[in-house]
Amino acid sequence: MARIGDSELDVFPLSLGGNVFGWTADHEESLAILDAHAAGGGNFIDTSDSYMASVPGNSGGESETIIGEWFTTRGTRDATVIATKVSRHPQFPGLSGDNIRRAADASLGRLQTDRIDLYYAHFEDPNTPLEETAEAFDAVVREGKVRYTALSNFSPENIEAYIAICKANGYALPVALQPHYNLVHRNDFEDHLAPIAEREHLGVVPYYALASGFLTGKYRSKTEEHDRARAKAAAKYVTDQGLRIVDELERIGGEHGVSIATTALAWLLAKPTVVAPIASASRVEQVADLLAVATVELSADDVARLDAVSAWRPSGGDA
Ligand SMILES: NC(=O)c1ccc[n+]([C@@H]2O[C@H](COP(=O)([O-])OP(=O)(O)OC[C@H]3O[C@@H](n4cnc5c(N)ncnc54)[C@H](OP(=O)(O)O)[C@@H]3O)[C@@H](O)[C@H]2O)c1
Repeated sequence: MARIGDSELDVFPLSLGGNVFGWTADHEESLAILDAHAAGGGNFIDTSDSYMASVPGNSGGESETIIGEWFTTRGTRDATVIATKVSRHPQFPGLSGDNIRRAADASLGRLQTDRIDLYYAHFEDPNTPLEETAEAFDAVVREGKVRYTALSNFSPENIEAYIAICKANGYALPVALQPHYNLVHRNDFEDHLAPIAEREHLGVVPYYALASGFLTGKYRSKTEEHDRARAKAAAKYVTDQGLRIVDELERIGGEHGVSIATTALAWLLAKPTVVAPIASASRVEQVADLLAVATVELSADDVARLDAVSAWRPSGGDA
């Protein structure tokens, strides 16, 4: 188990992504994935009130509704650390104080629970002052509806400004960051966010840990067609460097007896501020590969090899 920042939340070092529930995993498969995740020791689930409003026929909240049903039918709520987010639900957009209060209540209803363990501001809201958001997040914590707050997709400047506001007013401090970070998307996090996370004791919970499936090794050719709904998002990483990264993951994973996907997650977990990478599974069979990250520890040399093959700078091109 790992501790999230300065909170009292102890989590399995892999967070199960919830954007597949009501999208690429149907109702029955979603419940089966949640069962397999818990049976394998997982206790940390990531969702959002907006998942998956973008899928035709959905209106948002489908993922929370499935997780809430799973909590109630399986009696698993107390054994789970549930993270959800506000700002992108079509009916509850943005981070105004009023919206945060109403969106939190709606999430609690769908999740069939009386508290959210970790509540993220999902994206910045340029129309609301940070002071108003910080005050509203503090209020839902004081009311007992939320245990801890966190930030996702915030600029370094706004993370620092938000923390300064919390400190000046005695508001609940965020305990975690959820950035886009993986072996094919490193610089934004490593250059700008990691130093803040380190200094402010923020636990980092990276999303797209598998680059939408690319870092599982199932997209190996530039011309091959794939039937997965997210193939387009993953296939954009099929470049010469992307494929060299997958080859190196395969070699290192082979030395540890684990898969390419598990090795990609283990690289993230080896980074100092990372508490638990987030990855989703669209099928039950994929869950074991995700949970296996808890069984493998990469050596400093493994990490250095992966750092080297994945280094990329706009001015210098591929490493
Ligand atoms: N804060 C934010 O703005 C934000 C943004 C995006 C995501 N997130 C969070 O991060 C989570 C993870 O992101 P993601 O689900 O989009 O992408 P991801 O974790 O990078 O990729 C997961 C996908 O890879 C495939 N996969 C997983 N395990 C596999 C295995 N063992 N073998 C083969 N394929 C495997 C599955 O897709 P297929 O089977 O369909 O190929 C799965 O849905 C989301 O669920 C969400 O909770 C947050």
